Amino acid sequence: MFPIRRNRRLRQNEAIRSLVRETTITPNDFLVPLFVVEGKGVKEEIPSMPNYYRFSLDLLEEEVKLLWNLGLKSVLLFVKVDDKLKDNKGTEALNPNGLMQRAIKSVKEICPNMLVMTDVALDPFSVYGHDGIIENGKIINDATVEVLAQMSISHAEAGADFVAPSDMMDGRVLGIREALDQSNFIDTGIMSYSAKYASSFYGPFRDALDSAPVDAHDIPKDKKTYQMDFANRDEAIRETQMDINEGADIVMVKPGLCYLDIVRDIRNSFNVPIAVYQVSGEYAMLKAAAEKGWLDHDSVMLEQVTAIKRAGADIIASYFAKDVVNLIS
Ligand code: PBG
Repeated sequence: MFPIRRNRRLRQNEAIRSLVRETTITPNDFLVPLFVVEGKGVKEEIPSMPNYYRFSLDLLEEEVKLLWNLGLKSVLLFVKVDDKLKDNKGTEALNPNGLMQRAIKSVKEICPNMLVMTDVALDPFSVYGHDGIIENGKIINDATVEVLAQMSISHAEAGADFVAPSDMMDGRVLGIREALDQSNFIDTGIMSYSAKYASSFYGPFRDALDSAPVDAHDIPKDKKTYQMDFANRDEAIRETQMDINEGADIVMVKPGLCYLDIVRDIRNSFNVPIAVYQVSGEYAMLKAAAEKGWLDHDSVMLEQVTAIKRAGADIIASYFAKDVVNLIS
């Protein structure tokens, strides 16, 4: 008799489907990006990221408590820096009383058990909108790493649990690890953006932080001399291997959906926790299509985050985190 095996037996109804389901999304999967600005009473929507906001420190309380009550226990902090505080070397990033340092303390005061991760990169602090110091039209690697290491110490002093270098300079994980250890921050972790591609999906994020590379003579117009070429796959393994050797506790692939082959390669090659960043452009695309009535927002959102986890992600950094948890709870 043919066929003996009928695969549809396992799909007959929701009860059997949920019994054999291989990937389940829970609040534990998410890391929530938070955008912080100076001021009081500020909750401003980011135009290219509908229903996503920049918060001033006083309004962070409500948001952080909301996240915690939803079971979202980790945040990734980004700051929007005033133009007048920007320079070539990211000097403001080291200010012990800077916005990032105050934001870390605020979150820890509001919710001591919330895991606080911080973005470590120069671009929000750079007059040029680059992740490194520029000399003669070039991004200078080693001098940048020194600033990133100091920045990491400063975040650790303010109470960060993990620093998340998103710059793609060579050797920065080792530079940061040694600096943290020398300052006795042996328990401060590093989540390294290991395979971060030069992607056009970051556009809305650069709107959110006003951090796009400036259009000026002798300033590189894109980030292709440090972020990876999106045509490359083997290189992601090399980058990740180096970051692990240099002491990264968690590695990351970014962006998400277009790069799930990379996520699976890394899953198959290493056994460290993997984070995937579903970036601002991915968020914007779905919001726009849903607004037009062309896609069903909630079901596409759930399909996307499930695909990211199925590919091998342990951690999903996503602007959809709150929406997903509201949907599944
Ligand atoms: C900058 C940084 C970027 C993102 C996170 N950290 C932008 C960039 O590299 O230009 C992008 C996140 C997103 O698009 O959601 N170091």
